Amino acid sequence: MKEQQLIIAPSVLACDFSRLGEEIETVVEAGADWIHLDVMDGHFVPNITFGPAIIQSVRGRTDKVFDCHLMIEPCDPYLAQFAAAGCDIITVHAEATKHLDRSLQAIRELGKKAGVSINPHTPVNIIENVLDRLDLILLMSVNPGFGGQRFIPSVVDKTRSIKQMIGNRPIDIEIDGGVTPETAPLVAAAGANALVAGSAIFNGGTKKAYSENIIAIRNAVNEVG
Ligand code: DX5
Ligand code: ZN
Repeated sequence: MKEQQLIIAPSVLACDFSRLGEEIETVVEAGADWIHLDVMDGHFVPNITFGPAIIQSVRGRTDKVFDCHLMIEPCDPYLAQFAAAGCDIITVHAEATKHLDRSLQAIRELGKKAGVSINPHTPVNIIENVLDRLDLILLMSVNPGFGGQRFIPSVVDKTRSIKQMIGNRPIDIEIDGGVTPETAPLVAAAGANALVAGSAIFNGGTKKAYSENIIAIRNAVNEVG
């Protein structure tokens, strides 16, 4: 058994955007712990989603943690806007900022939790020297830009390395991309405590389906754990 409760963070990328506020309420009622918000700029990643105005418009729908994953380059000029929009965790990509240490300091100075994400090809040692500025490490298990892609298995070893690297620091390890009841146990066993899932949760379109989908991931992890 894992000593810590697994955090499930549904990515709204896979929801019905025309009913974004309702979808957030529904997935929270279905058992979500955090709401994962994928912000894409068409520059760092080959897709465009939404920005701070949309996030602010749905902030009032739940008290759950807004877990904001910025796939934008540059990120520094926009951090204050995402903080003001009500994001609780702001995660930047190590590959999208020239001065990662500065970006992380800026997020904490805004009173928010600071996260860093790394792409599947990026070595874990890129974050070795900023560990004390981090609240969360998000390991991409697909190449960022789209939902519904296949899980890249090499992230399992990376998760193990990161877990060892952080030691007893209170840093969440989050996995994002291709998380399903089949892949979730692999990364949880390697040390991840927060799992993002888009298509595996919003599949079905109803509260009942979302709840079953979340339970299926939790059960799969608990069976192995
Ligand atoms: C990809 C995003 C992910 C994505 C996950 O760039 O960061 O959060 O929505 O979607 P699934 O779970 O469908 O792989
Ligand atoms: Zn994401």
